[in-house]
Amino acid sequence: MSDPYSDLGSQNKKVQAQIADALDSRCLDPSQVAIRAAYLSGLQLPADALAVEFGSGTGHVTKDLLTMAGAARAVGIEPSPILAQRAIERFSDDDRLSFEIGDAKRTGLPTGSVDLVLMHTLLCHVPGPEDVLKEAFRVLKPGGVLAICDGDYDTATAQIADFDPLDQLVRFMINQNVTNLWIMRQIGGMLTECGFNMGARQGHGYVADGDAAYFMTVIARGAERMVETGLLLSETAEALKAEAVARLKENRFFGFMSYVSQIATKPV
Ligand SMILES: C[S@@+](CC[C@H](N)C(=O)[O-])C[C@H]1O[C@@H](n2cnc3c(N)ncnc32)[C@H](O)[C@@H]1O
Repeated sequence: MSDPYSDLGSQNKKVQAQIADALDSRCLDPSQVAIRAAYLSGLQLPADALAVEFGSGTGHVTKDLLTMAGAARAVGIEPSPILAQRAIERFSDDDRLSFEIGDAKRTGLPTGSVDLVLMHTLLCHVPGPEDVLKEAFRVLKPGGVLAICDGDYDTATAQIADFDPLDQLVRFMINQNVTNLWIMRQIGGMLTECGFNMGARQGHGYVADGDAAYFMTVIARGAERMVETGLLLSETAEALKAEAVARLKENRFFGFMSYVSQIATKPV
């Protein structure tokens, strides 16, 4: 199956709504908030900075551009009308924030007009990520900042012992929902090729904690997708989901993934 995030606007409404719920859950997770703060809060921006998030989903991370990065205005660009509408409804009370339906490869923004471009878990879903980087390079002002953060997806796991069947659900979910698992291991070469100067690179470990809400959506979506593809009986999928819930209740659940952030600048 092709990665549904790569063309979310053409997925059925149920899939878009399920993804919107999963994004909301992930964005609000305190450990995920901490990852975003770790790479966004140290950026040096001018006082009246305009920031743009490419692939803004349900809008939480676009808001971080104001609260964490210190931008004066922030715009989110998102191809899925359902996700963009959710962002508009949730954040319409803040007139420093706006959201547009659009494609990160062709934003329509004026050349050299933006101080900060953010791509948070976007590039792993885009076939031809080089075209998105070229568009960021075009719209950034000289000296403008590009911030990229994505999962290092080969590290995603729920495994607590050899041959743990729950881990297969995580791996299947990643396999079915990510276009390029290796994007953050390849990004340095792509940025250099595009003409960017490299800035800080950081690794961020994410351990599911508390109700493990985001990891539970990964487990559930992996199990449901295995049923859709005919790999599992629905009874087996329900049993595996119940195993995850039981582990959580008994403090035996473990979920982990690394994220990597990379800052780059457009030469002056
Ligand atoms: C995993 S979500 C991340 C959303 C948001 N950045 C967040 O972290 O909550 C990836 C988003 O990228 C969007 N996307 C995929 N291809 C895109 C493209 N070519 N241009 C802009 N956005 C795109 C998807 O629709 C989806 O909302």
